[in-house]
Amino acid sequence: MEIDEKSLWNQKYREGSHASLEPDQLLVSAYQEFLAAQPAGSALDVAGGVGRHAFWLAKRGWHVTLMDISEVGVQRAEENAQAAGAAAAVSTEVRDLNVMQDLGQEQYDLVLVFFFLQRSLFPSLITALKPGGVLIYKTYTTEQKSFSGGPSHPMFLLQTNELLHAFSPLRILHYHESGQGKGVAELIAKKA
Ligand SMILES: C[S@@+](CC[C@H](N)C(=O)[O-])C[C@H]1O[C@@H](n2cnc3c(N)ncnc32)[C@H](O)[C@@H]1O
Repeated sequence: MEIDEKSLWNQKYREGSHASLEPDQLLVSAYQEFLAAQPAGSALDVAGGVGRHAFWLAKRGWHVTLMDISEVGVQRAEENAQAAGAAAAVSTEVRDLNVMQDLGQEQYDLVLVFFFLQRSLFPSLITALKPGGVLIYKTYTTEQKSFSGGPSHPMFLLQTNELLHAFSPLRILHYHESGQGKGVAELIAKKA
C-alpha cells in the first residue's frame, strides 16, 4: 500500500494534531521500575513525533536521538526540547524508517517506539540495543478497530501476541494487551 506518510504527518503537525507533550504512562512507569536506578545513558526515540518522550528523558539526563519522517514534527520536537531546556541533549534526524532501517549496532541503552509500526524494522531495533539495553514498545492492536481514533489498516495494527513473538530474543520484562477503551499492546524487554 502506497501512503505518503511524510505529507500526511507534516499536515497533521501543521494542523496542531498529535501535539501532546505528556509522556505516555508506560514510559513513566517503565522508567521508574527498570531505568531510574541506573545512570542515564543514550536513547533512541523511533518515530518520535513532537518529542514528548525525547525531552522527558533528556530532562532526566539522557542523550536522546529522535528520528521521524516528518520535518514539521522534528522541528516541533526541537522547539519543545529547547523550551524544556533540554535542547543540548536531544539530536534529531528526519528519516524515512521504512527505507533507512539501519539504526546502528549496540548504540543505545534504551529504544522507544510509541504508536508506530513498521515490522521490517524489528530486527534493527534489537541490533541497536546495547547488551543490557531496554526496549519499550507500545502501539495499536487489531482490537483498536472497535474504537474511534487510531489507524484502521492492518499494516499499522498488531496481531495478538505479535510483539511478544517478534521480540522473543530479548528477555521480556512486561507484556500487556488491552482491549478496554483502546486496543493497544505494550512490551518492555531487555537485551541479554
Ligand atoms: C502517532 S505518531 C507517534 C509519535 C510519537 N512516537 C509519540 O508517541 O508521541 C506516529 C509518528 O510516526 C512518524 N512516521 C510515520 N511514518 C514514518 C516513517 N516511515 N519513518 C519515520 N517516521 C514515521 C510520524 O511522522 C509520526 O510522528
